[in-house]
Order: sequence, then C-alpha cells, then structure tokens
Amino acid sequence: MTAAAHQNANRIGTDAIPVRHMDFEFDDSVPTFWFAGDPLRTMILTALSGTFPEGERMFMRSVRHYQKAIKDPELQKQVKAFIGQEAHHGKEHQTFNDMMTRKGIPVDFIDRYTKEGLKRIEKFYSPQRLLAKTCALEHFTALFAELLLAHPELIDEVDDQLKPLWVWHAIEESEHKAVAYDVFQEQVDSYWIRVSEMAVTTIMFSFFSTLHTAQLLQAAKQQPGQRRMGVGQRLKGLWQHRDVLAELGKHYLAYYKPDFHPSQKDSRALRDKGLEMLSRYVGDKAYLSV
Ligand SMILES: [Fe+2]
Ligand SMILES: [Fe+2]
Repeated sequence: MTAAAHQNANRIGTDAIPVRHMDFEFDDSVPTFWFAGDPLRTMILTALSGTFPEGERMFMRSVRHYQKAIKDPELQKQVKAFIGQEAHHGKEHQTFNDMMTRKGIPVDFIDRYTKEGLKRIEKFYSPQRLLAKTCALEHFTALFAELLLAHPELIDEVDDQLKPLWVWHAIEESEHKAVAYDVFQEQVDSYWIRVSEMAVTTIMFSFFSTLHTAQLLQAAKQQPGQRRMGVGQRLKGLWQHRDVLAELGKHYLAYYKPDFHPSQKDSRALRDKGLEMLSRYVGDKAYLSV
C-alpha cells in the first residue's frame, strides 16, 4: 500500500464531510462581551456553546447505538465522519467555554447542568427517541448554521478571534446535516417519533436556551464596567437582525413534512462561501482533513 493509500484507508472524514483540526487558542484579550459589546447577543451564543460539548457527545452516543446495524456502506462512512466532526466541535467549544469561565461567566455551570439533564433523559428515552432528538437538534443547528453562512454580516460585530470558531462550526453542521437523519430513516423510520420529538425538543430547547442566557446575563452583571440597561435597550441589538431571523421559521416548519429530507435544501454554494471566509482566518486548515 502506498503512503497516500494508507493515509486514505485510515481517514476518518469523507470528501463531503471532512474532519478538520482547528486547534483554536483564545487568549484572554478577547473581550467578555465579544459580540458588539452587547451582553444579550454575547450570552445567547455563549449559553449555546455551554451546551455543545455534552450535547454533541449525546448526539454521538445516539448514533453509535445503531452504528453496527447500518446497512448502507456509504452511510457507515458518513457516520464515522459525523462522529469525528462532532468530537472536534466539542473540543474547540470547550476551549472557548473555558476562556469565558476564566472571565467570570459561569459556562462551566451550564456544562454540568446539561450533563445531568441529558443523563436523566437518556435513562428513560428509547434509543429511537434519543436518535429522533439528535435529528431534531441537528435540524436546529443546520438552520442556524446555514443562516450564518447565508448572512455572514450577522457576525460582523463579533470579535475577530472568535469569528472562525462560529464559521467553522457552521460549515461542518451544514456538511453533516443529513447523517443522523439518514440513520434514523434507515433504522427507525417513524414519522410520529420524528415529529413528536421535534415538538418536545422545540419547547425544551427554547426554554433552556432562554434560561441559560438569563443565568449568564445575571452573572455578567458582576462584571466591571457593566452599564444598567433596560429591556428595550437590550433587545435593540437583536432587533436589527429581525428580517434575517424571520427566515428561520419557514425552514424550521419544513421538518414536519412527511417527505422532508435535510438535503432538499442544497447548501453547497453556501458552504463554499463559508470555506472561503474561513480560509481568510485559518489558511489551508480550512481545506485539510484527517
Ligand atoms: Fe457540532
Ligand atoms: Fe451536528
């Protein structure tokens, strides 16, 4: 076997779902309110990031449960790539979360809370329903990811050190958006479980995202130099993105169609645009994979 063939045989990712190594390092010069100096937008995304390492580990477990039973060899390869990408997302977001915790924003609390909550869910959920939860959350991440790739101006005011983290994660969520879904369709194939779990997950996701954001905003009040802001002022930053955010509704609802498939929305052009943007920050790493 040639060296190249050997490397190819050991490769985790596929051409369409490459596993990239980012190895981000965020130094403490990143401002605490790294999104336009705005506590609300900063804490919405920081709270999300706090749930990623444990949430993505749950995604991996739910798919791994079916890994050996998967019949389609192509899907087998995609599952390995999916697990590889999600493992790296957890690692990089942990680096970011640790930096925010060092700054006095208790992201470590959200991480522990998510771990405990998922442990309880996994105790009484069937493997089918757990996989349906992963599919539902993967639909959410793909929605947000593709919104960001279509409207990169959304993160214009994010600190430059953090832009590549969000752009890289968005690209890879778009790349693997159909994998958990395809495993579900092959192994479970239940419209009722899929959409009922989406309804439950929507309520839980909205509730916990709001709760965690409020918890972080409360803790952020202790930060030096915090101005007192009214609700109107706090919502102003978010309100300027209202037209773009309204697009989410239509794509969210598509999930409830009986013939829905994540790939119905062809996002290759968006990902190419995202990769070009990412390469401006990290160079060739945007295209290299393992
Ligand atoms: Fe991810
Ligand atoms: Fe994902």
